[in-house]
Amino acid sequence: MLTILHGSDLHFGRPFDEAVARVFRETIRGISPDLLVLSGDFTQRAKVREYRLAREFLDSLPDVPTVVTPGNHDVPLYRVWERVFAPLRNYRQFLSEELDTVTRVEGAVVVSLNSTAPLRAVVNGHLTDPQLLFAAEALKDARPTDLRVLVFHHHLAPAPDYESDQVLKGYQRCIRAFEKMKVDLILGGHLHRSFTANTQDVIPGKRKDGGIVIAHSGTTTSTRGRARERNKNTLNLIGISREWMEITHHLYVDGANGFVPMASHAFPRRGGALPGRAGTVAGHPADDDAVGAEERGE
Ligand SMILES: [Fe+2]
Repeated sequence: MLTILHGSDLHFGRPFDEAVARVFRETIRGISPDLLVLSGDFTQRAKVREYRLAREFLDSLPDVPTVVTPGNHDVPLYRVWERVFAPLRNYRQFLSEELDTVTRVEGAVVVSLNSTAPLRAVVNGHLTDPQLLFAAEALKDARPTDLRVLVFHHHLAPAPDYESDQVLKGYQRCIRAFEKMKVDLILGGHLHRSFTANTQDVIPGKRKDGGIVIAHSGTTTSTRGRARERNKNTLNLIGISREWMEITHHLYVDGANGFVPMASHAFPRRGGALPGRAGTVAGHPADDDAVGAEERGE
């Protein structure tokens, strides 16, 4: 079993909640995940002071492999010269020199891509063709049993409430590329609420291939929670077995002084077998009929 702890949108600066961050740190220590993923917006205004605090926080965490990626708030919004000529200078100095990364752990290959687009698509983000090639190259040699994970800040599919439903610029092109790469899971943040989605929410596809599972974390340590997570903090705990991915959204609850599970979603792995799990039907004869009906155009 591989365990991934996924938080997002820490937002060091004015919205940062120190008390919740302390609990987040203890949660990481308690779970001791195989991998920690932090999917962007480390700061509120991309200031040196905020980045310095973010760096100190990362340094204070238990020593586990950690994947980071920048978010739109990690680029200066108002310091125009910097936004045009050196948008991620502070991010590279304090958090990660590399903006697109590959992390290999036992059972998974994880590629993070910088989806910030300070000039072209500040709010909804963008990925370039060279970045898609970078991901394809990194995943090319993944073992058949490896989970193929992509991490980027922005969203490919809208949240269930459709608030801020403008998805990543060029999403069709990206989804087609990710399908070719046989990506299993996409992790992101940005919308400040946790949800699971699927690439087929935006491109249904012609075949019954299941699409790619998407999981977003809300803001884990800030007061910027949105919609149903207004003023709330969330993270995802993801358990990967040979046959299943199970994504459990956790909500910070004051009284419990910790992150507690609020919803769990289980997805069969690509090529995984269905038997052995409650609530599933393996090899149901109606499946064949359904495919036949689709092919007949019914
Ligand atoms: Fe954010």
